[in-house]
Amino acid sequence: MEKQLVRLISREEIAAAVKRLAREIDRDSENRSLVVIGILKGSFIFIADLVRNLETPLLAIEFTRLSSYGSATVSSGRAEILAGLPEEAVRGQNVIVVEDIVDTGITTATLLEYLQGYRPADLKLCTLLDKPSRRRVEVKIDYRGFTVPDRFIVGYGIDFDERYRQLPEIYTLEE
Ligand code: IMP
Ligand code: MG
Ligand code: MG
Repeated sequence: MEKQLVRLISREEIAAAVKRLAREIDRDSENRSLVVIGILKGSFIFIADLVRNLETPLLAIEFTRLSSYGSATVSSGRAEILAGLPEEAVRGQNVIVVEDIVDTGITTATLLEYLQGYRPADLKLCTLLDKPSRRRVEVKIDYRGFTVPDRFIVGYGIDFDERYRQLPEIYTLEE
């Protein structure tokens, strides 16, 4: 049977959450410039909306990519960083990593540990969605849009086999 899309988060709810997260980041950054690092591909729409709501000046927007999760990633508890970042973009800077979903936590934990080695002045994590039920490694989430149930999520940048990224709202994919 064809899978069904069931709407979970509307465009109005997404827009309100993005505004709230931007205000939280602005408040904490106290006008010190930020380096924003998006994790591709899933964060591409979220990061575009988020940075347009920030008042804090940006030094740079960077992107990185990690191996998508599969059984190898989950059993090793590590993701592979496929696109590295220049150390000089991070060293001494106030950095915010932007992710679509924190699920097992392996992707963000791997990246945060790697970036910590570059000695940023500050390193924070902003995720649109938090799926805590499947967490394998502990991750400190500084800015969280929504907590979601243990369902497969698509839309607003998030895919199933590269499909559904372009949907403006967030759905669960149901049998
Ligand atoms: P991790 O398990 O926290 O390492 O998450 C790895 C990546 O899997 C996330 O950044 C998402 O891109 C993807 N992912 C996790 N849960 C879902 C989901 O429900 N739908 C689509 N992608 C997901
Ligand atoms: Mg992702
Ligand atoms: Mg994906």
